[in-house]
Amino acid sequence: MAPAWDDEGPTLPDDIPDADAGGVAGAVRIVPLRRRHLRTVVQIEEANYPRPWTSTVFLSELAQRRSRRYTVATIGPLIVGFSGLMIVSEDGHITTLTVDPAWHRRGIGTVLLLDQARAAPALGVRHLTLEVRASNAPAQLLYQRFGFAPVGVRRNYYPETGEDAIVMWARDIDTADYARRLADIDALLGSGS
Ligand SMILES: CC(C)(COP(=O)(O)OP(=O)(O)OC[C@H]1O[C@@H](n2cnc3c(N)ncnc32)[C@H](O)[C@@H]1OP(=O)(O)O)[C@@H](O)C(=O)NCCC(=O)NCCS
Repeated sequence: MAPAWDDEGPTLPDDIPDADAGGVAGAVRIVPLRRRHLRTVVQIEEANYPRPWTSTVFLSELAQRRSRRYTVATIGPLIVGFSGLMIVSEDGHITTLTVDPAWHRRGIGTVLLLDQARAAPALGVRHLTLEVRASNAPAQLLYQRFGFAPVGVRRNYYPETGEDAIVMWARDIDTADYARRLADIDALLGSGS
């Protein structure tokens, strides 16, 4: 898929890293997901999932301001990924974590999740949870790095394929220990390893 463009248009400044050039975490900015991002966000969604969310679904999520935190990752004018957090009391549910396929494996998913995990305690969240496809080993590896452990299986969770979901939890994310884990992840990104 071609890189996704933000509303500002397809002019790439000279300092945008090449999508094939390895880690780009230092060039990524995380900003709140806004309506004007949705055209590109839905394109990225459609490029990644067999049953993509529509803009209507995203709009309904964004409308629930008190219990949702949606972000996009940008590199210069490009939108390269997005993430969502749903807050239910002390539990934060990662509703989505998605990167433009042209930018996979450059550290962008990690930057998006670092931002959510760091923001969550201030919103009252003490534990994070998510569902991931049983076959999605790349995402599971990423989540394990963030301390998510599998605690159960939801059978036939994804109707389009009948695939199971693994339910994962990262507990006590409001502790100094967990902040250190995040700092270690951040440091690895910075070193480009
Ligand atoms: C899952 C996803 C968000 C990861 O984002 P990303 O920016 O590509 O991931 P990162 O570059 O930050 O990778 C972080 C770590 O995850 C693991 N990982 C990510 N992609 C991987 C792959 N293709 N193969 C193996 N491990 C992978 C690795 O441990 C990686 O660390 P490393 O590169 O130092 O080895 C992205 O692949 C994606 O959008 N996938 C499709 C949508 C999806 O499945 N989302 C998750 C739904 S639960």
